[in-house]
Amino acid sequence: MQIKKLTKNLAAAMTGVDLSKPISAELKNTLRETIAAHRILVVKNQTLDSDAQEAFSECFGELLHPVTRRPDGIRLPQTHEITNAAKEGGISNDQYLGATAFWHTDGAYFPVPPLYTTLYAVKLPPSGGGDTEFVDMRAAYDALPQAQKQALDGLQVVHSHAEKNLVSGARAGTMDEVRDAPPVIHPMIRTIEGTEQRALYLGMYAVRILGMPDEEARKLLAELHEHSIQPEFRYTHVWEPGDLMMWDNRSLMHRAVGNFDMDREVRTLRRTVVKNLESAMA
Ligand code: OGA
Ligand code: MN
Repeated sequence: MQIKKLTKNLAAAMTGVDLSKPISAELKNTLRETIAAHRILVVKNQTLDSDAQEAFSECFGELLHPVTRRPDGIRLPQTHEITNAAKEGGISNDQYLGATAFWHTDGAYFPVPPLYTTLYAVKLPPSGGGDTEFVDMRAAYDALPQAQKQALDGLQVVHSHAEKNLVSGARAGTMDEVRDAPPVIHPMIRTIEGTEQRALYLGMYAVRILGMPDEEARKLLAELHEHSIQPEFRYTHVWEPGDLMMWDNRSLMHRAVGNFDMDREVRTLRRTVVKNLESAMA
């Protein structure tokens, strides 16, 4: 097995492992440690069907059941595909897919921020593109002036699945989605469980700040957002067949980059999101 850093501060690639078979305790530990160190891990050359990806993901904790309904009202299963392929054939860039194009962190609308996401390349656009971009929210926090860190400390942010359209312009939440995911509150600056590391926790679900007038809150959220997405904090993943990505959701934001011919070419990724049991039990 080999692990190679992809940039100075963010992302590593692992080769020489097979995640389609049950993994050893040692490999599981190495995966955890690699993600703790590099936050984003790309495991190369994997062949994973849905069951295998689910079994692998479950090694790290319970999986979250996404709240987003498909356009036909059906709730996505725990292991699900993000795709622009229409069920009846052809292509359909439904709005819920569009939402992944906005910077976010997965499941910020759950009471406990999820730990990991796994994404597997099922089908990549033949002409290339369809990248996934990440920003380092720990580095973004660290780069804030000391006085601003102090001013932001203690602020509580409302994250809402249904109201993300305020930020992203995606469709409004459906009744089912609103019922399943009422707004939750997270500190604007989170300490990563079991560490001293602090990170900004924002993204498209962050819609209000407790005790702050809406206009002022939106301005501050937008300012911090612009600060966080600066190129120096980014890693862009150019997918290759066989890639399985896994990342720490608590200290990153990510988005799908629309740099492919999405009206003609199919892009399908398969996804799971792992609960953060450590802090759920704390
Ligand atoms: C997601 C997501 C990014 C992408 O599935 O949660 O953000 O590149 N996907 O599709
Ligand atoms: Mn996502």
